[in-house]
Amino acid sequence: MKLRIALPVLLAALALPALADNYSLPKNAAFEEECTSCHIAYPPQMLDAHSWLHMMNGLATHFGTDASIDDKRRAAIADFLAQNSGGRKTGRTVDARGNPLLRITETARFEKKHRKVDAATWKRASIKSPANCGACHTQAAAGDYSERSITIPK
Ligand code: HEC
Ligand code: HEC
Repeated sequence: MKLRIALPVLLAALALPALADNYSLPKNAAFEEECTSCHIAYPPQMLDAHSWLHMMNGLATHFGTDASIDDKRRAAIADFLAQNSGGRKTGRTVDARGNPLLRITETARFEKKHRKVDAATWKRASIKSPANCGACHTQAAAGDYSERSITIPK
């Protein structure tokens, strides 16, 4: 009996952080298998569907590497990314000419959130690239970008 009353309250409390930025990773086996071997699982919420579809159509020339996969898996991952892509909150992820951005790190939202990180910091040997989220966001692989889990390495 006690549990029946407490559970909804507990669930409501757990759901609260979702009102802030929620980049938790929806489960998807194909995405995890194909998209986390070279880098962390980037949150689908951080690009809009248009950007993801462009990326998924150009995997053979993916940031200087060949990340191509068979068509069936490619279509499944493209669907998954589009369905979980950032909507209104992320804004459209296009450049000044309206072309879809393929880098989260080039989006206005990313730039806004990282205004306090200076150019020299991004280039530290321990960080290398803004795309290396996990260098500073220690729980990035789990989709947690909250301030309490940030440690900028020397
Ligand atoms: C063969 C290795 C490899 C695989 C597999 C791979 N990637 Fe990448 N990806 C890269 C490299 C290299 C970069 C550029 C990293 C950098 O600039 O530091 C990158 C960058 C990215 C970026 C942009 C990061 C930024 O700068 O904001 C996204 C988004 C991305 N990958 C998504 C995916 C998705 C989705 C998949 C699965 C379909 C995938 N990647 C599979 C190598 C790979
Ligand atoms: C050089 C370290 C560093 C790297 C690399 C980095 N970040 Fe951050 N990020 C920060 C810092 C510092 C903040 C907090 C800025 C502030 O509080 O003003 C932040 C804030 C954020 C926030 C906002 C968190 C919130 O609670 O509002 C998100 C989302 C985020 N980063 C995502 C990413 C993603 C995705 C990547 C990789 C593509 C990335 N970051 C790479 C340092 C980094």
